[in-house]
Amino acid sequence: MPVRVGIVGTGAMGAVHARVLAEAVAGARVAAVCDARGDVAEAVASEAGGATVHAGGSDVVADPGVDAVVVASPADTHAELVLACLEAGKPVLCEKPLAATLEDCRRVVAAEAALGRRLVQVGFMRRFDPGYAELRRRLRAGEIGTPLLAHCVHRNAHAPGFFTSDMLITDSAVHEVDAVRWLLGEEVARVTALAPRSTRRVPGGVRDPQVVLLETDSGVLVDVEVFVNAVYGYDVRCEVVGEDGTLELAPPAAIVARRQGVAGVAVVQGFQERFAAAYVAELRAFAAAAARGTVAGPGAWDGYAAAAVAHAGVESLRAGRPVDVALDAQAPVAAGR
Ligand SMILES: NC(=O)c1ccc[n+]([C@@H]2O[C@H](COP(=O)([O-])OP(=O)(O)OC[C@H]3O[C@@H](n4cnc5c(N)ncnc54)[C@H](O)[C@@H]3O)[C@@H](O)[C@H]2O)c1
Repeated sequence: MPVRVGIVGTGAMGAVHARVLAEAVAGARVAAVCDARGDVAEAVASEAGGATVHAGGSDVVADPGVDAVVVASPADTHAELVLACLEAGKPVLCEKPLAATLEDCRRVVAAEAALGRRLVQVGFMRRFDPGYAELRRRLRAGEIGTPLLAHCVHRNAHAPGFFTSDMLITDSAVHEVDAVRWLLGEEVARVTALAPRSTRRVPGGVRDPQVVLLETDSGVLVDVEVFVNAVYGYDVRCEVVGEDGTLELAPPAAIVARRQGVAGVAVVQGFQERFAAAYVAELRAFAAAAARGTVAGPGAWDGYAAAAVAHAGVESLRAGRPVDVALDAQAPVAAGR
């Protein structure tokens, strides 16, 4: 029997998840959906092969025909939906952030700990990207010795009009925060967010680009350039510098073209394209784990820790100084992937 998945929020990410579940995850099917916009939910339900359309997220969670839930509605809806899934004993894949506030992240970590088993997966899909997975495997194998530094780049062609200065950290750099924690196997202890001259392409005083410096517990220093209106495409890079060499993600292209005096690779235009394989692997892992009554990959603690670093980054941006990260939530059920 395939795992019957309910999706709350069928906007950009919810629609991607619905399509991937319907087309690429043999062990699952989309059983129910809801969205604040009924027409959007209806369209996704019919594309996914005729899922039930519910009025609200709590109806999706409570549906006896739903075994597991994907939460892809806006951040301020996440905590209550995830807590409802824990209450119902249903595995949940919650898109980042785990919750809109650190207090709500702590509530989720505590509720899962009280339950005593892992039911919360957070949508940090880079952990399922083949490049990042190989980078971690080779780091862990000791290929470049002890890591000392990392350089990360996160550029989007254009950000949505509602993107604020804070969101460059809470919505974009937060992916690097999780990736760095996972690659290096340690927490981030201090954050410094710096905003150089801003691009004139974005009106309204949005600080874009930014450089976010992360210092880990053991003293690895990571610089993250976030530039969400970089125009030319979607570009994610990561190089870890160790005592014996460096490991860097290769450009995600199969072909190098040499023509008219130029050798080059195409730059992808969006995260859906760049991380297509990761979204598939993420949902396959979620469905396989849900069939066993649990989840895979990044968990509630990872969602909390990444949010704590992002909140410290926002504070640093405003205060103009480094900010220490205090992780004071209850101990997690089990470590993330
Ligand atoms: N992992 C990733 O790569 C990635 C990428 C983009 C967005 N996200 C995350 O996914 C989530 C959704 O982002 P998005 O870009 O799809 O936004 P979106 O605005 O495209 O979609 C959100 C949808 O939720 C619906 N909605 C609003 N309130 C709702 C409610 N109470 N119940 C049910 N539906 C509701 C909206 O009508 C909309 O269709 C966010 O948390 C975002 O941070 C993750």
